[in-house]
Amino acid sequence: MQVITAISELRSVIRAARVKQPALQVGFVPTMGFLHEGHASLLKAARDQCELVVLSIFVNPLQFGPNEDFERYPRDEKRDLAIAAEAGTDIVFMPQVAEMYPSPIRTTVSVSEVTRRLCGASRPGHFDGVATVVTKLLNMVQPDYAYFGMKDAQQVAVIEQMVQDLNIPVHIVACPTLREADGLAKSSRNVYLNEEQRAQAVQLSAALRKARSAVEESWRHLTPREVEEQVREEIARAPLADIDYVEVLDYPSLQTIDTFVSSRRVIIAVAVKFGNTRLIDNVVIPIQS
Ligand code: PAF
Repeated sequence: MQVITAISELRSVIRAARVKQPALQVGFVPTMGFLHEGHASLLKAARDQCELVVLSIFVNPLQFGPNEDFERYPRDEKRDLAIAAEAGTDIVFMPQVAEMYPSPIRTTVSVSEVTRRLCGASRPGHFDGVATVVTKLLNMVQPDYAYFGMKDAQQVAVIEQMVQDLNIPVHIVACPTLREADGLAKSSRNVYLNEEQRAQAVQLSAALRKARSAVEESWRHLTPREVEEQVREEIARAPLADIDYVEVLDYPSLQTIDTFVSSRRVIIAVAVKFGNTRLIDNVVIPIQS
């Protein structure tokens, strides 16, 4: 496994690999590090599909708001490299902020509509930061496939829209959310939770599971607003939970819906704060007759 910090070296190593093996498929997993089994599953998906697997680890300041956790975002380089090696990564790209942003950035990639609700509304500017850094990384790596986790389902929708609109030649692969044994979605931010918060955080996935069953069984007799209310009530059973949003939307358009419509997909998405830690989770459900 090669660890690279300079963009020029990254480009020349990938170019050389492509010259040596013209049919080479390059798989790319962009991350902000503090890797867990969710990231390892993305790397494994890339390993299964591609001959060259590139991982990036970069905590992107552009996607954090002024009062968010950029400075205290968890970092553990040594552990990340061990997980990356174990998952069969070929190249780890770990640039410094000055390498990615050598001067103040004057160009921003901004995706409209799909960023209007959910985290787009709660974290203004967040998806501009994500779309901009992902565009830069895709330009640097030029992968055939790029892998993203569905825990950030809105991020997947934003990137798919961006790739389509800007004709970026990459296939986006959306991979399932990995969960702890009790259902909590795996996230780098889970380490911030104290014991009591961690115990109550399970209520998010429990509420989503219950809502999924209700929608699957009775979508004809339910409205999206009623489902949102049921999820709110379930989450409120955790006294430490401070709900940011609970929304039922069309997926991947992320437009508001007033009824469930057969053969569309819906997302039930939640963001909940436990103390200073903001957790997100979702389920995407095909509406089937
Ligand atoms: O999902 C993440 O970890 C980040 O948003 C990403 C895609 C690596 C961009 O910084």
